[in-house]
Amino acid sequence: MDNIIDASTLTVRAFVSSDEADVKGLVTVAFGQEIEARLVYRLRHCGALVLELVAVSKDGQVVGHVAFSRVTPADVGPGQGLIICCLAPISVLPEFQRQGVGSAMIKAGLEALKGLGEDLVLVLGPPAYYPRFGFDPALARKVKAPYAGDAFMALALTDAGENDLPVEVGFATPFQEFE
Ligand SMILES: CC(C)(COP(=O)(O)OP(=O)(O)OC[C@H]1O[C@@H](n2cnc3c(N)ncnc32)[C@H](O)[C@@H]1OP(=O)(O)O)[C@@H](O)C(=O)NCCC(=O)NCCS
Repeated sequence: MDNIIDASTLTVRAFVSSDEADVKGLVTVAFGQEIEARLVYRLRHCGALVLELVAVSKDGQVVGHVAFSRVTPADVGPGQGLIICCLAPISVLPEFQRQGVGSAMIKAGLEALKGLGEDLVLVLGPPAYYPRFGFDPALARKVKAPYAGDAFMALALTDAGENDLPVEVGFATPFQEFE
């Protein structure tokens, strides 16, 4: 995939293997601990990632990262044919936060996922942040998962994602640490 956004100050592009050390460092710094960086590594190397993007500053520094991983619907009920992924984790270097980097990566990611034919995107995160991109806790109440509550949100990218619910889902194995 080529660059999705190429503004004068920020580029959002697909992760490449030479970004691995930068991404490990930035995820660790953004969360103040290593567990999320380990999650990214495990998701990547077990083949669970559907899409992985980085944001690069104009001087070439990797300042942001987002991972979207495969979520598997149970083979029962109306949602069994849905193509589902989840957004997690997302990280921006502290000195670059609140400048639109996270928003740029999420918007670029959702556009790319539409092109890939994904039906539904799930996220677990602050209810004050994700609804601005269309994520909705009410839609997620139709998704039976190890997570629940207003921090668990869903965004349909297709009519099927909106309508072929409820669905029961399982997350990629590396998330078991967080359940
Ligand atoms: C969450 C994060 C990725 C957002 O990226 P960002 O580039 O700072 O976000 P943007 O500049 O696109 O958006 C800024 C807006 O998001 C809000 N926001 C950022 N982090 C938030 C949080 N944890 N809870 C609620 N709102 C948050 C800001 O208040 C700001 O709101 P405003 O536009 O109304 O002023 C970034 O803050 C980060 O890396 N945080 C540490 C890691 C983390 O918590 N990841 C998310 C876990 S789900």
